[in-house]
Amino acid sequence: MSREAHREADGEPPSIVAPYGSIPGPGALELLRILPDLSSQPLKVFSRLAATYGDVFALRYPLDNVVMVADPDGIEHVLHHAHHRYAKATSRWRTLRQIWGEGLLTADGDAWRRQRQRIQPAFHKDHVESFAQTVATEAERTGDAWTVAARSGEPLDVYTEMLRCTLRALLKAMFGSDADDRADMLVHAVEEINGYIDPTAPSNLWNLPIPVRRWVQPGFRPFQRAMDTIRRTFGELIDARVRSGEIRPDLLGLIMAGRDDERSETMSVRQVHDEMMTLLMAGHETSGITSTWTWYWLAGNPGPEARLHAELDAVLGGRAPAPADLPALEYTRRVIDEVLRLSPTIYAFDRMAMEDDVVCGYRIPKGTAVAISPYLMHRHARYWDRALEFDPDRFIAPGAASRPAYAYLPFGGGPRRCVGMRMALTTTPLLIATLARRYRLRVKPGHPVEELARVNLSPKYGMLMRIEPRQPSGGVPAASDISRSPASTVMPPT
Ligand code: HEM
Repeated sequence: MSREAHREADGEPPSIVAPYGSIPGPGALELLRILPDLSSQPLKVFSRLAATYGDVFALRYPLDNVVMVADPDGIEHVLHHAHHRYAKATSRWRTLRQIWGEGLLTADGDAWRRQRQRIQPAFHKDHVESFAQTVATEAERTGDAWTVAARSGEPLDVYTEMLRCTLRALLKAMFGSDADDRADMLVHAVEEINGYIDPTAPSNLWNLPIPVRRWVQPGFRPFQRAMDTIRRTFGELIDARVRSGEIRPDLLGLIMAGRDDERSETMSVRQVHDEMMTLLMAGHETSGITSTWTWYWLAGNPGPEARLHAELDAVLGGRAPAPADLPALEYTRRVIDEVLRLSPTIYAFDRMAMEDDVVCGYRIPKGTAVAISPYLMHRHARYWDRALEFDPDRFIAPGAASRPAYAYLPFGGGPRRCVGMRMALTTTPLLIATLARRYRLRVKPGHPVEELARVNLSPKYGMLMRIEPRQPSGGVPAASDISRSPASTVMPPT
Protein backbone atom coordinates (compact mmCIF):
# COMPACT_ATOMS: atom_id res chain seq x y z
CA MET A 1 0.00 0.00 0.00
CA SER A 2 1.39 3.44 -0.92
CA ARG A 3 1.67 6.30 1.60
CA GLU A 4 -1.29 8.01 -0.06
CA ALA A 5 -3.34 4.83 0.24
CA HIS A 6 -2.58 4.65 3.98
CA ARG A 7 -3.71 8.26 4.41
CA GLU A 8 -6.81 7.36 2.44
CA ALA A 9 -7.61 4.33 4.60
CA ASP A 10 -7.16 6.52 7.69
CA GLY A 11 -9.69 9.00 6.28
CA GLU A 12 -7.08 11.73 5.72
CA PRO A 13 -7.13 13.82 2.51
CA PRO A 14 -4.15 13.39 0.15
CA SER A 15 -1.20 15.66 0.88
CA ILE A 16 -0.78 17.47 -2.49
CA VAL A 17 -3.54 17.88 -5.05
CA ALA A 18 -2.73 18.64 -8.70
CA PRO A 19 -5.40 20.33 -10.83
CA TYR A 20 -7.43 18.31 -13.32
CA GLY A 21 -5.83 20.19 -16.24
CA SER A 22 -2.41 18.80 -15.30
CA ILE A 23 -3.44 15.17 -15.90
CA PRO A 24 -1.36 14.10 -18.92
CA GLY A 25 -3.12 12.92 -22.06
CA PRO A 26 -3.46 13.42 -25.81
CA GLY A 27 -4.21 16.93 -27.05
CA ALA A 28 -7.20 17.74 -29.26
CA LEU A 29 -5.44 16.89 -32.55
CA GLU A 30 -4.02 13.59 -31.34
CA LEU A 31 -7.41 12.68 -29.87
CA LEU A 32 -9.09 13.35 -33.20
CA ARG A 33 -6.51 11.17 -34.94
CA ILE A 34 -6.94 8.19 -32.57
CA LEU A 35 -10.73 8.47 -32.26
CA PRO A 36 -11.56 5.78 -34.88
CA ASP A 37 -9.08 3.36 -33.25
CA LEU A 38 -10.47 4.14 -29.79
CA SER A 39 -13.82 2.66 -30.74
CA SER A 40 -12.55 -0.17 -33.01
CA GLN A 41 -9.54 -1.36 -30.95
CA PRO A 42 -9.66 0.38 -27.57
CA LEU A 43 -7.19 -1.96 -25.88
CA LYS A 44 -4.34 -1.26 -28.29
CA VAL A 45 -4.96 2.49 -27.90
CA PHE A 46 -5.20 2.30 -24.07
CA SER A 47 -1.89 0.39 -23.94
CA ARG A 48 -0.21 2.92 -26.22
CA LEU A 49 -1.55 5.88 -24.21
CA ALA A 50 -0.50 4.31 -20.89
CA ALA A 51 3.02 3.76 -22.29
CA THR A 52 3.17 7.42 -23.38
CA TYR A 53 1.38 9.25 -20.56
CA GLY A 54 1.66 6.93 -17.55
CA ASP A 55 -0.75 5.30 -15.10
CA VAL A 56 -3.28 8.16 -15.07
CA PHE A 57 -4.22 9.88 -18.31
CA ALA A 58 -7.13 11.99 -19.53
CA LEU A 59 -9.17 11.83 -22.72
CA ARG A 60 -10.70 15.27 -23.11
CA TYR A 61 -13.61 14.86 -25.54
CA PRO A 62 -15.66 17.96 -26.47
CA LEU A 63 -18.64 16.84 -24.34
CA ASP A 64 -17.09 14.22 -22.09
CA ASN A 65 -14.05 14.00 -19.83
CA VAL A 66 -12.66 10.53 -19.25
CA VAL A 67 -9.76 9.70 -16.95
CA MET A 68 -8.15 6.27 -17.19
CA VAL A 69 -6.69 5.06 -13.90
CA ALA A 70 -4.18 2.19 -14.19
CA ASP A 71 -2.84 2.36 -10.65
CA PRO A 72 -3.94 -0.22 -8.02
CA ASP A 73 -4.27 2.32 -5.19
CA GLY A 74 -6.22 4.72 -7.42
CA ILE A 75 -8.55 1.90 -8.48
CA GLU A 76 -9.01 0.78 -4.86
CA HIS A 77 -9.93 4.37 -4.01
CA VAL A 78 -12.61 4.60 -6.71
CA LEU A 79 -14.12 1.13 -6.27
CA HIS A 80 -13.73 0.72 -2.53
CA HIS A 81 -12.84 3.66 -0.26
CA ALA A 82 -14.76 6.35 -2.20
CA HIS A 83 -17.32 4.15 -4.01
CA HIS A 84 -20.18 6.31 -2.64
CA ARG A 85 -18.86 9.25 -4.71
CA TYR A 86 -19.26 7.33 -7.97
CA ALA A 87 -22.21 5.96 -9.95
CA LYS A 88 -22.88 4.00 -13.12
CA ALA A 89 -24.13 7.14 -14.86
CA THR A 90 -21.87 6.99 -17.94
CA SER A 91 -23.09 6.52 -21.53
CA ARG A 92 -21.88 2.90 -21.54
CA TRP A 93 -24.10 1.97 -18.58
CA ARG A 94 -27.04 4.04 -19.90
CA THR A 95 -26.91 2.01 -23.12
CA LEU A 96 -26.88 -1.28 -21.22
CA ARG A 97 -29.69 -0.07 -18.94
CA GLN A 98 -31.87 0.65 -21.97
CA ILE A 99 -31.30 -2.91 -23.12
CA TRP A 100 -31.26 -4.98 -19.92
CA GLY A 101 -33.54 -2.88 -17.73
CA GLU A 102 -32.92 -1.84 -14.11
CA GLY A 103 -31.11 -4.89 -12.80
CA LEU A 104 -28.32 -5.18 -10.23
CA LEU A 105 -25.57 -4.55 -12.77
CA THR A 106 -26.87 -1.17 -13.91
CA ALA A 107 -28.74 0.09 -10.79
CA ASP A 108 -27.30 2.77 -8.51
CA GLY A 109 -27.67 4.16 -4.99
CA ASP A 110 -30.32 2.89 -2.63
CA ALA A 111 -32.05 0.78 -5.28
CA TRP A 112 -28.76 -1.03 -5.95
CA ARG A 113 -28.04 -1.61 -2.21
CA ARG A 114 -31.43 -3.18 -1.58
CA GLN A 115 -31.21 -5.36 -4.67
CA ARG A 116 -27.73 -6.57 -3.72
CA GLN A 117 -29.01 -7.58 -0.25
CA ARG A 118 -31.84 -9.54 -1.84
CA ILE A 119 -29.73 -11.27 -4.49
CA GLN A 120 -26.48 -12.02 -2.70
CA PRO A 121 -27.85 -15.01 -0.69
CA ALA A 122 -28.74 -16.83 -3.93
CA PHE A 123 -24.99 -17.08 -4.60
CA HIS A 124 -24.19 -18.72 -1.26
CA LYS A 125 -21.63 -21.56 -1.41
CA ASP A 126 -24.25 -24.31 -0.95
CA HIS A 127 -26.40 -23.12 -3.85
CA VAL A 128 -23.38 -22.57 -6.08
CA GLU A 129 -22.35 -26.22 -5.60
CA SER A 130 -25.66 -27.42 -6.96
CA PHE A 131 -25.41 -24.98 -9.91
CA ALA A 132 -21.89 -26.34 -10.53
CA GLN A 133 -23.29 -29.86 -10.84
CA THR A 134 -25.63 -28.52 -13.53
CA VAL A 135 -22.65 -27.14 -15.45
CA ALA A 136 -20.77 -30.43 -15.14
CA THR A 137 -23.78 -32.31 -16.55
CA GLU A 138 -24.11 -29.85 -19.46
CA ALA A 139 -20.36 -30.04 -20.15
CA GLU A 140 -20.54 -33.85 -20.22
CA ARG A 141 -23.34 -33.57 -22.80
CA THR A 142 -21.16 -31.24 -24.88
CA GLY A 143 -18.33 -33.77 -24.59
CA ASP A 144 -20.62 -36.56 -25.83
CA ALA A 145 -21.61 -34.42 -28.83
CA TRP A 146 -17.92 -33.76 -29.62
CA THR A 147 -17.22 -37.45 -30.29
CA VAL A 148 -18.40 -36.98 -33.90
CA ALA A 149 -16.02 -34.04 -34.54
CA ALA A 150 -13.22 -35.88 -32.73
CA ARG A 151 -13.66 -38.87 -35.08
CA SER A 152 -13.97 -36.85 -38.30
CA GLY A 153 -11.26 -34.28 -37.51
CA GLU A 154 -13.67 -31.54 -38.65
CA PRO A 155 -12.94 -28.37 -36.59
CA LEU A 156 -15.66 -26.83 -34.41
CA ASP A 157 -16.21 -23.22 -33.40
CA VAL A 158 -15.42 -23.71 -29.74
CA TYR A 159 -16.57 -20.15 -28.97
CA THR A 160 -20.13 -21.00 -30.04
CA GLU A 161 -19.89 -24.37 -28.28
CA MET A 162 -18.85 -22.76 -24.98
CA LEU A 163 -21.50 -20.03 -25.18
CA ARG A 164 -24.21 -22.62 -25.78
CA CYS A 165 -22.95 -24.87 -23.00
CA THR A 166 -22.79 -22.07 -20.40
CA LEU A 167 -26.11 -20.60 -21.55
CA ARG A 168 -27.95 -23.93 -21.24
CA ALA A 169 -26.38 -24.53 -17.84
CA LEU A 170 -27.31 -21.04 -16.63
CA LEU A 171 -30.91 -21.38 -17.84
CA LYS A 172 -31.11 -24.61 -15.86
CA ALA A 173 -29.63 -22.94 -12.77
CA MET A 174 -32.10 -20.07 -13.16
CA PHE A 175 -35.35 -21.94 -13.86
CA GLY A 176 -34.67 -25.61 -13.03
CA SER A 177 -36.37 -27.81 -15.61
CA ASP A 178 -39.12 -25.22 -16.36
CA ALA A 179 -37.18 -23.79 -19.32
CA ASP A 180 -36.05 -27.14 -20.81
CA ASP A 181 -38.51 -27.11 -23.71
CA ARG A 182 -37.70 -23.48 -24.57
CA ALA A 183 -33.90 -23.65 -24.23
CA ASP A 184 -33.24 -23.83 -28.01
CA MET A 185 -35.43 -20.80 -28.69
CA LEU A 186 -33.76 -18.82 -25.89
CA VAL A 187 -30.27 -19.80 -27.06
CA HIS A 188 -31.14 -18.54 -30.54
CA ALA A 189 -32.54 -15.24 -29.18
CA VAL A 190 -29.49 -14.63 -26.99
CA GLU A 191 -27.19 -15.24 -29.98
CA GLU A 192 -29.11 -12.59 -31.91
CA ILE A 193 -28.71 -10.12 -29.02
CA ASN A 194 -25.01 -10.79 -28.51
CA GLY A 195 -24.39 -10.03 -32.17
CA TYR A 196 -25.98 -6.62 -31.81
CA ILE A 197 -24.97 -5.07 -28.47
CA ASP A 198 -21.96 -2.80 -28.74
CA PRO A 199 -21.90 0.03 -26.21
CA THR A 200 -18.69 1.36 -27.81
CA ALA A 201 -20.39 1.93 -31.19
CA PRO A 202 -20.51 5.67 -32.01
CA SER A 203 -24.32 5.53 -32.37
CA ASN A 204 -24.52 4.25 -28.77
CA LEU A 205 -22.24 6.91 -27.33
CA TRP A 206 -24.95 9.50 -27.95
CA ASN A 207 -27.56 7.29 -26.35
CA LEU A 208 -30.06 7.52 -29.18
CA PRO A 209 -33.75 7.10 -28.37
CA ILE A 210 -35.25 3.77 -29.42
CA PRO A 211 -37.39 5.08 -32.35
CA VAL A 212 -34.24 6.65 -33.88
CA ARG A 213 -32.22 3.46 -33.36
CA ARG A 214 -34.79 1.58 -35.39
CA TRP A 215 -33.87 3.64 -38.43
CA VAL A 216 -30.13 4.16 -38.04
CA GLN A 217 -29.06 0.72 -36.82
CA PRO A 218 -29.73 -2.11 -39.25
CA GLY A 219 -29.48 -4.85 -36.58
CA PHE A 220 -31.88 -3.14 -34.18
CA ARG A 221 -35.16 -4.74 -35.35
CA PRO A 222 -34.01 -8.39 -35.14
CA PHE A 223 -32.41 -7.50 -31.83
CA GLN A 224 -35.69 -6.10 -30.55
CA ARG A 225 -37.59 -9.20 -31.69
CA ALA A 226 -35.08 -11.37 -29.82
CA MET A 227 -35.43 -9.23 -26.70
CA ASP A 228 -39.23 -9.56 -26.94
CA THR A 229 -38.90 -13.36 -27.15
CA ILE A 230 -36.79 -13.48 -24.01
CA ARG A 231 -38.93 -10.99 -22.09
CA ARG A 232 -42.12 -12.85 -23.00
CA THR A 233 -40.65 -16.26 -22.12
CA PHE A 234 -39.21 -15.03 -18.82
CA GLY A 235 -42.53 -13.32 -18.04
CA GLU A 236 -44.39 -16.61 -18.60
CA LEU A 237 -41.92 -18.62 -16.52
CA ILE A 238 -42.07 -16.11 -13.65
CA ASP A 239 -45.90 -15.85 -13.75
CA ALA A 240 -46.22 -19.64 -13.70
CA ARG A 241 -43.94 -19.82 -10.66
CA VAL A 242 -45.86 -17.06 -8.83
CA ARG A 243 -49.16 -18.81 -9.56
CA SER A 244 -47.89 -22.19 -8.40
CA GLY A 245 -46.69 -20.72 -5.08
CA GLU A 246 -43.87 -23.26 -5.14
CA ILE A 247 -40.54 -22.39 -3.48
CA ARG A 248 -37.68 -24.07 -5.33
CA PRO A 249 -33.92 -23.79 -4.79
CA ASP A 250 -33.14 -22.49 -8.31
CA LEU A 251 -32.02 -18.89 -8.89
CA LEU A 252 -35.58 -17.77 -9.64
CA GLY A 253 -36.90 -19.25 -6.39
CA LEU A 254 -34.00 -17.91 -4.32
CA ILE A 255 -34.24 -14.43 -5.82
CA MET A 256 -38.02 -14.28 -5.36
CA ALA A 257 -37.50 -15.14 -1.70
CA GLY A 258 -34.64 -12.61 -1.19
CA ARG A 259 -35.33 -9.76 1.26
CA ASP A 260 -33.54 -6.51 1.94
CA ASP A 261 -32.33 -5.74 5.47
CA GLU A 262 -34.14 -2.45 5.95
CA ARG A 263 -37.74 -3.07 4.93
CA SER A 264 -37.59 -6.86 4.74
CA GLU A 265 -39.48 -6.70 1.44
CA THR A 266 -39.22 -9.13 -1.45
CA MET A 267 -38.99 -7.84 -5.05
CA SER A 268 -41.86 -6.91 -7.34
CA VAL A 269 -42.49 -9.30 -10.25
CA ARG A 270 -41.19 -6.61 -12.62
CA GLN A 271 -37.97 -6.36 -10.63
CA VAL A 272 -37.53 -10.14 -10.59
CA HIS A 273 -37.90 -10.04 -14.35
CA ASP A 274 -35.15 -7.41 -14.80
CA GLU A 275 -32.84 -9.28 -12.45
CA MET A 276 -33.29 -12.55 -14.33
CA MET A 277 -32.48 -10.72 -17.60
CA THR A 278 -29.39 -9.24 -15.95
CA LEU A 279 -28.15 -12.57 -14.61
CA LEU A 280 -28.65 -14.20 -17.99
CA MET A 281 -26.71 -11.54 -19.87
CA ALA A 282 -24.04 -10.90 -17.19
CA GLY A 283 -23.51 -14.58 -16.42
CA HIS A 284 -23.44 -16.70 -19.55
CA GLU A 285 -21.28 -14.76 -22.00
CA THR A 286 -18.58 -13.93 -19.44
CA SER A 287 -18.30 -17.59 -18.44
CA GLY A 288 -18.51 -18.90 -22.03
CA ILE A 289 -15.81 -16.52 -23.26
CA THR A 290 -13.51 -17.33 -20.32
CA SER A 291 -13.81 -21.03 -21.16
CA THR A 292 -13.07 -20.28 -24.83
CA TRP A 293 -9.88 -18.34 -23.97
CA THR A 294 -8.89 -21.20 -21.66
CA TRP A 295 -8.83 -23.64 -24.59
CA TYR A 296 -6.87 -21.11 -26.60
CA TRP A 297 -4.18 -20.54 -23.96
CA LEU A 298 -3.89 -24.25 -23.17
CA ALA A 299 -3.49 -25.12 -26.87
CA GLY A 300 -0.54 -22.72 -27.18
CA ASN A 301 1.16 -23.73 -23.93
CA PRO A 302 1.94 -27.47 -23.88
CA GLY A 303 3.71 -27.30 -20.49
CA PRO A 304 0.75 -25.97 -18.50
CA GLU A 305 -1.60 -28.14 -20.57
CA ALA A 306 0.38 -31.29 -19.64
CA ARG A 307 0.27 -30.32 -15.97
CA LEU A 308 -3.47 -29.75 -16.13
CA HIS A 309 -3.95 -33.20 -17.72
CA ALA A 310 -1.67 -34.81 -15.15
CA GLU A 311 -3.67 -33.25 -12.32
CA LEU A 312 -6.99 -34.36 -13.82
CA ASP A 313 -5.73 -37.91 -14.30
CA ALA A 314 -4.26 -38.08 -10.81
CA VAL A 315 -7.32 -36.68 -9.04
CA LEU A 316 -10.08 -38.21 -11.15
CA GLY A 317 -8.48 -41.45 -12.35
CA GLY A 318 -10.62 -41.32 -15.51
CA ARG A 319 -14.02 -40.59 -13.96
CA ALA A 320 -16.04 -37.39 -14.51
CA PRO A 321 -15.35 -34.60 -12.01
CA ALA A 322 -17.88 -33.41 -9.42
CA PRO A 323 -17.96 -30.17 -7.38
CA ALA A 324 -16.41 -32.04 -4.43
CA ASP A 325 -13.23 -32.57 -6.53
CA LEU A 326 -12.58 -28.85 -6.94
CA PRO A 327 -10.39 -28.34 -3.83
CA ALA A 328 -8.02 -31.00 -5.18
CA LEU A 329 -7.94 -29.45 -8.67
CA GLU A 330 -5.62 -26.63 -7.58
CA TYR A 331 -3.68 -26.29 -10.82
CA THR A 332 -6.88 -26.27 -12.89
CA ARG A 333 -8.07 -23.32 -10.80
CA ARG A 334 -4.74 -21.50 -11.29
CA VAL A 335 -5.10 -21.98 -15.05
CA ILE A 336 -8.47 -20.18 -14.91
CA ASP A 337 -6.98 -17.40 -12.75
CA GLU A 338 -4.23 -16.93 -15.35
CA VAL A 339 -6.69 -16.94 -18.26
CA LEU A 340 -8.69 -14.23 -16.47
CA ARG A 341 -5.46 -12.26 -16.08
CA LEU A 342 -4.45 -12.32 -19.74
CA SER A 343 -7.94 -12.38 -21.24
CA PRO A 344 -10.20 -10.64 -18.72
CA THR A 345 -13.66 -10.89 -20.26
CA ILE A 346 -14.67 -7.55 -18.74
CA TYR A 347 -11.61 -5.75 -20.09
CA ALA A 348 -12.75 -2.27 -18.91
CA PHE A 349 -15.59 -0.58 -17.06
CA ASP A 350 -16.25 2.91 -15.80
CA ARG A 351 -17.86 5.14 -13.18
CA MET A 352 -19.09 8.74 -13.15
CA ALA A 353 -17.82 11.03 -10.36
CA MET A 354 -20.98 12.38 -8.67
CA GLU A 355 -18.95 14.85 -6.60
CA ASP A 356 -15.43 16.29 -6.74
CA ASP A 357 -12.77 13.80 -5.71
CA VAL A 358 -9.01 13.28 -5.67
CA VAL A 359 -7.48 10.20 -7.34
CA CYS A 360 -3.74 9.50 -7.38
CA GLY A 361 -3.13 13.11 -6.32
CA TYR A 362 -5.19 14.65 -9.15
CA ARG A 363 -8.43 16.57 -8.71
CA ILE A 364 -11.30 14.75 -10.44
CA PRO A 365 -14.18 17.19 -10.98
CA LYS A 366 -17.80 16.06 -10.59
CA GLY A 367 -19.08 14.76 -13.95
CA THR A 368 -15.78 13.12 -14.97
CA ALA A 369 -15.95 9.49 -16.11
CA VAL A 370 -13.25 7.35 -14.50
CA ALA A 371 -12.27 4.33 -16.59
CA ILE A 372 -10.69 1.20 -15.13
CA SER A 373 -9.20 -1.52 -17.29
CA PRO A 374 -8.44 -4.96 -15.82
CA TYR A 375 -6.72 -5.70 -19.15
CA LEU A 376 -4.22 -2.85 -18.66
CA MET A 377 -3.64 -3.68 -15.00
CA HIS A 378 -3.16 -7.40 -15.65
CA ARG A 379 -0.39 -6.71 -18.18
CA HIS A 380 1.30 -3.92 -16.22
CA ALA A 381 5.03 -4.67 -16.10
CA ARG A 382 5.40 -3.11 -12.62
CA TYR A 383 3.16 -5.74 -11.06
CA TRP A 384 3.68 -8.77 -13.30
CA ASP A 385 6.97 -10.44 -14.29
CA ARG A 386 6.99 -11.66 -17.89
CA ALA A 387 3.54 -10.12 -18.09
CA LEU A 388 2.67 -11.57 -21.52
CA GLU A 389 3.63 -15.15 -20.64
CA PHE A 390 1.02 -17.69 -19.68
CA ASP A 391 2.20 -18.97 -16.32
CA PRO A 392 -0.46 -20.19 -13.85
CA ASP A 393 2.19 -20.61 -11.13
CA ARG A 394 2.67 -16.86 -10.87
CA PHE A 395 -0.22 -16.91 -8.38
CA ILE A 396 1.83 -19.01 -5.93
CA ALA A 397 5.28 -17.63 -6.81
CA PRO A 398 7.29 -15.99 -3.99
CA GLY A 399 6.14 -12.38 -3.70
CA ALA A 400 2.70 -13.06 -5.18
CA ALA A 401 1.05 -12.31 -1.82
CA SER A 402 2.61 -8.84 -1.65
CA ARG A 403 1.22 -7.78 -5.05
CA PRO A 404 -1.33 -4.94 -4.56
CA ALA A 405 -4.84 -6.41 -4.38
CA TYR A 406 -6.21 -4.18 -7.15
CA ALA A 407 -3.49 -5.17 -9.63
CA TYR A 408 -5.73 -8.19 -10.34
CA LEU A 409 -9.43 -7.48 -10.71
CA PRO A 410 -11.16 -9.69 -13.29
CA PHE A 411 -14.35 -9.46 -11.18
CA GLY A 412 -14.06 -5.76 -10.31
CA GLY A 413 -13.77 -4.74 -6.66
CA GLY A 414 -15.33 -3.05 -3.65
CA PRO A 415 -19.02 -3.47 -2.78
CA ARG A 416 -19.94 -3.82 -6.46
CA ARG A 417 -17.62 -6.75 -7.09
CA CYS A 418 -19.23 -9.39 -9.32
CA VAL A 419 -22.04 -11.11 -7.43
CA GLY A 420 -21.48 -14.23 -9.56
CA MET A 421 -17.74 -14.50 -8.83
CA ARG A 422 -18.00 -17.62 -6.69
CA MET A 423 -20.29 -19.21 -9.24
CA ALA A 424 -17.87 -18.41 -12.10
CA LEU A 425 -14.82 -19.68 -10.18
CA THR A 426 -16.63 -22.90 -9.30
CA THR A 427 -18.30 -23.66 -12.59
CA THR A 428 -15.52 -22.69 -15.03
CA PRO A 429 -12.82 -25.02 -13.61
CA LEU A 430 -15.43 -27.79 -13.48
CA LEU A 431 -16.46 -27.24 -17.11
CA ILE A 432 -12.82 -27.28 -18.27
CA ALA A 433 -12.01 -30.34 -16.13
CA THR A 434 -15.01 -32.24 -17.50
CA LEU A 435 -13.98 -31.69 -21.13
CA ALA A 436 -10.17 -31.72 -20.73
CA ARG A 437 -10.49 -35.17 -19.10
CA ARG A 438 -11.59 -36.46 -22.52
CA TYR A 439 -10.14 -34.09 -25.11
CA ARG A 440 -7.34 -31.72 -26.00
CA LEU A 441 -8.07 -28.91 -28.41
CA ARG A 442 -5.89 -27.31 -31.11
CA VAL A 443 -6.55 -24.08 -33.04
CA LYS A 444 -7.14 -24.94 -36.71
CA PRO A 445 -3.94 -23.99 -38.59
CA GLY A 446 -4.44 -20.66 -40.36
CA HIS A 447 -7.46 -19.66 -38.26
CA PRO A 448 -6.98 -16.00 -37.20
CA VAL A 449 -7.31 -15.35 -33.47
CA GLU A 450 -7.90 -11.72 -32.59
CA GLU A 451 -9.40 -9.94 -29.61
CA LEU A 452 -12.64 -8.01 -30.11
CA ALA A 453 -13.39 -5.54 -27.31
CA ARG A 454 -17.15 -4.89 -27.21
CA VAL A 455 -19.20 -5.51 -24.05
CA ASN A 456 -16.86 -8.44 -23.44
CA LEU A 457 -13.43 -9.39 -24.77
CA SER A 458 -14.34 -12.06 -27.30
CA PRO A 459 -12.45 -13.79 -30.12
CA LYS A 460 -13.25 -11.69 -33.20
CA TYR A 461 -13.44 -14.58 -35.67
CA GLY A 462 -14.67 -17.23 -33.25
CA MET A 463 -12.33 -20.06 -32.24
CA LEU A 464 -12.10 -22.85 -34.81
CA MET A 465 -10.43 -25.80 -33.11
CA ARG A 466 -9.76 -29.46 -33.78
CA ILE A 467 -11.06 -31.77 -31.07
CA GLU A 468 -8.57 -34.56 -30.29
CA PRO A 469 -9.53 -37.46 -28.02
CA ARG A 470 -7.29 -37.93 -25.01
CA GLN A 471 -6.68 -41.05 -22.97
CA PRO A 472 -6.17 -40.50 -19.25
CA SER A 473 -2.62 -41.58 -18.35
CA GLY A 474 -2.57 -44.88 -16.46
CA GLY A 475 -0.78 -44.36 -13.20
CA VAL A 476 -0.88 -41.48 -10.80
CA PRO A 477 2.03 -39.17 -11.74
CA ALA A 478 4.38 -38.15 -8.97
CA ALA A 479 4.21 -34.50 -7.92
CA SER A 480 7.86 -34.17 -9.06
CA ASP A 481 6.89 -35.35 -12.58
CA ILE A 482 4.15 -32.76 -12.71
CA SER A 483 6.38 -29.91 -11.65
CA ARG A 484 9.08 -30.92 -14.20
CA SER A 485 6.78 -30.30 -17.16
CA PRO A 486 8.11 -27.79 -19.73
CA ALA A 487 7.92 -24.07 -19.00
CA SER A 488 5.08 -22.06 -20.43
CA THR A 489 5.42 -20.27 -23.74
CA VAL A 490 4.30 -16.81 -24.73
CA MET A 491 1.35 -16.63 -27.10
CA PRO A 492 -0.64 -13.43 -26.76
CA PRO A 493 -3.57 -13.15 -29.14
CA THR A 494 -2.52 -11.53 -32.40
C1 HEM B 1 -15.83 -15.32 -15.70
C2 HEM B 1 -17.03 -14.86 -15.45
C3 HEM B 1 -17.34 -13.45 -14.99
C4 HEM B 1 -16.59 -12.31 -15.05
C5 HEM B 1 -15.19 -12.13 -15.62
C6 HEM B 1 -17.39 -11.25 -14.46
C7 HEM B 1 -16.94 -9.94 -14.30
C8 HEM B 1 -17.66 -8.95 -13.64
C9 HEM B 1 -17.17 -7.63 -13.34
C10 HEM B 1 -15.79 -7.08 -13.71
C11 HEM B 1 -18.16 -6.96 -12.67
C12 HEM B 1 -18.06 -5.55 -12.08
C13 HEM B 1 -18.49 -4.49 -13.06
C14 HEM B 1 -18.38 -3.09 -12.46
O1 HEM B 1 -17.95 -2.93 -11.33
O2 HEM B 1 -18.75 -2.15 -13.16
C15 HEM B 1 -19.28 -7.86 -12.57
C16 HEM B 1 -20.48 -7.55 -11.97
C17 HEM B 1 -21.59 -8.38 -11.97
N1 HEM B 1 -21.64 -9.68 -12.41
FE1 HEM B 1 -20.10 -10.74 -13.14
N2 HEM B 1 -18.60 -11.76 -14.08
C18 HEM B 1 -18.61 -13.11 -14.37
C19 HEM B 1 -19.64 -14.00 -14.12
C20 HEM B 1 -20.86 -13.68 -13.61
C21 HEM B 1 -21.93 -14.60 -13.34
C22 HEM B 1 -21.83 -16.12 -13.53
C23 HEM B 1 -23.00 -13.87 -12.92
C24 HEM B 1 -24.38 -14.33 -12.52
C25 HEM B 1 -24.97 -15.42 -12.93
C26 HEM B 1 -22.60 -12.48 -12.89
C27 HEM B 1 -23.39 -11.42 -12.52
C28 HEM B 1 -22.92 -10.14 -12.25
C29 HEM B 1 -23.75 -9.08 -11.70
C30 HEM B 1 -25.26 -9.18 -11.39
C31 HEM B 1 -22.91 -7.98 -11.50
C32 HEM B 1 -23.28 -6.63 -10.90
C33 HEM B 1 -22.98 -6.65 -9.40
C34 HEM B 1 -23.30 -5.34 -8.69
O3 HEM B 1 -23.17 -4.28 -9.30
O4 HEM B 1 -23.64 -5.41 -7.51
N3 HEM B 1 -21.29 -12.41 -13.31
N4 HEM B 1 -18.96 -9.07 -13.15
